[in-house]
Amino acid sequence: MSPSKSILNRSRALLSQYTRPASFTARPLLSQCHGRFSSHSPMAPVGPNLRKKVTLNSLRTLYKKGEPITVLTAHDFPSGHVADAAGMDIVLVGDSLAMVAMGMEDTSEVLLEEMILHCRSVSRAAKTSFVIGDLPMGSYEIAPEQALESAIRFVKEGRVHGVKLEGGIEMAPTIKKITSAGIPVLAHIGLTPQRQNALGGFRVQGKTSAGALKVLEDALAVQEAGCFAMVVEAVPQEVATLITKKLRIPTIGIGAGNGCSGQVLVQVDMTGNFPPGRFIPKFVKKYGDVWSESMRAIEAYRDETKSRAYPAPEHTYPISKDELAEFERILDGKNA
Ligand code: KIV
Repeated sequence: MSPSKSILNRSRALLSQYTRPASFTARPLLSQCHGRFSSHSPMAPVGPNLRKKVTLNSLRTLYKKGEPITVLTAHDFPSGHVADAAGMDIVLVGDSLAMVAMGMEDTSEVLLEEMILHCRSVSRAAKTSFVIGDLPMGSYEIAPEQALESAIRFVKEGRVHGVKLEGGIEMAPTIKKITSAGIPVLAHIGLTPQRQNALGGFRVQGKTSAGALKVLEDALAVQEAGCFAMVVEAVPQEVATLITKKLRIPTIGIGAGNGCSGQVLVQVDMTGNFPPGRFIPKFVKKYGDVWSESMRAIEAYRDETKSRAYPAPEHTYPISKDELAEFERILDGKNA
């Protein structure tokens, strides 16, 4: 056999160890199959160590017990994965995606298709949290029918469990339409960032008695329309607390103090995954310093690659002395 043919045969043999035969079908490991896989138990937990799936019922139970509901944004598979693994009750694919994951100036730029794509990634990761997708500006305001069409796409293509939309009284018919089709809606009142131009920027809402009454009217209207909970953004703590007490569904606060029924934060903000000096809103608590840790790791990789300290022997694959000698003999023959 010619040297090049024998090399080819050996490479094929080696490759076959790593490729699956055409007949291969992936089967879940037995240890991953503890859930009841039937069409009537789609919410069953799928592994021995996984918590039970969060559902509207379990969220209601938390609310009734007075246990705060934890909500965090995620915009891709890794951020969805860690939020789910850390036990978030709700993972929100917020349209803050526009700025924090796509580098856009504000949320008005992000498209329905882009939101759906990111919802698909997060939903694949978040196996136990209740996943909500944020309807982007332009995908729901024209008519309740338009909103329902968008919401259905979020569920069918984005694989989310429910949708969020911004607005109060004026959005009540839209919320009714979507929830009547069996899609849970998380409302969003107070500061509604998609309307920042009309609101004169990111302004705290409900700072006067008239303003506070308007937030309450919005809250009662979206509750009546059938949403399962509402985000209350940038409202004085006392106002948000009083409004929460007037409702029979949960409020999820962001910049609204700790009298709400739960809290939501943007993941990149609270994990500190941004360069030093960036503005973050007053209500954000930085629980980590992901930027510094990533920077430290990437700089170390850069330095070790430049100095050839990486890869070290333990990062390489072995070859037997005989095979190496044979390879070198073949190469010498080729050079002769
Ligand atoms: O888009 C988003 O991330 C949000 C939350 C901050 C509530 O709307």
